[in-house]
Amino acid sequence: MTTVALNKISVTETGHPEKRKMVIAVDGPAASGKGTLAKMMADRLGYAYLDTGALYRAVALATLELGGNPEKYADVAPALAMVKRNLTPELLANPELRSHDVSEAASKVSALPEVRSALIDYQRGFAGNLPESVGGAVLDGRDIGTVICPDADLKFFVTAAPEERARRRYEELKTRYLDLTLEKVMSDIQQRDQRDSTRKVAPTRAANDAYILDTTDLNRTEALQQAVEVIHASLLSRSGATGPGY
Ligand code: DC
Repeated sequence: MTTVALNKISVTETGHPEKRKMVIAVDGPAASGKGTLAKMMADRLGYAYLDTGALYRAVALATLELGGNPEKYADVAPALAMVKRNLTPELLANPELRSHDVSEAASKVSALPEVRSALIDYQRGFAGNLPESVGGAVLDGRDIGTVICPDADLKFFVTAAPEERARRRYEELKTRYLDLTLEKVMSDIQQRDQRDSTRKVAPTRAANDAYILDTTDLNRTEALQQAVEVIHASLLSRSGATGPGY
């Protein structure tokens, strides 16, 4: 079990050692494999996991349900207030959040600065107030390493070639949307990449100190293996230890 090995000890101002929990940021574009990887990392390490994209998706779904335009803050505001009042793990696990329309709308609501700032506290609170029973947290998103947790202990930026990302997303969606084509998925992904990486506030970008993990030619297990090697190397370099703790 890894949790104990990955806990870090820091010294507080009073001189007492204090256990500081490890935070791992995983950012990257749509369908790069970052969500799957982040979840597998968290499972492997026994850490808490937050899919921050689900927050924007929840606001997007509520906006669509209220008949609002996801690009207009005046329409999004009531949905945002509803989601903030009811932010539960169940809400974030709603399978409807994964639909094609919600993906598009989530990219739009996430470009609104008011929406982004309203969701910051929840994300930082998640990373900073972990239960005793877990040794750390993995958060995945677009701006975790740059804005939400700039002091994260480790940062990954997961990416893959656009064609491969489109292929993965198409495989995931094709049985649900029978008239969907690979070309349509490719063009949607390009549009979302463009919107997410050029918006004014917190665009998708690798932090300067992020480890870039290109999953184009990697399956899930291989991607996890690489990530674990990076985590291990980082821990060894910090602790001066000589062998793996997990
Ligand atoms: O990771 P995802 O595809 O579930 O994210 C859905 C949308 O939310 C995506 O288009 C960009 C946005 N998002 C964001 O702007 N910041 C985050 N930390 C996570 C997601």
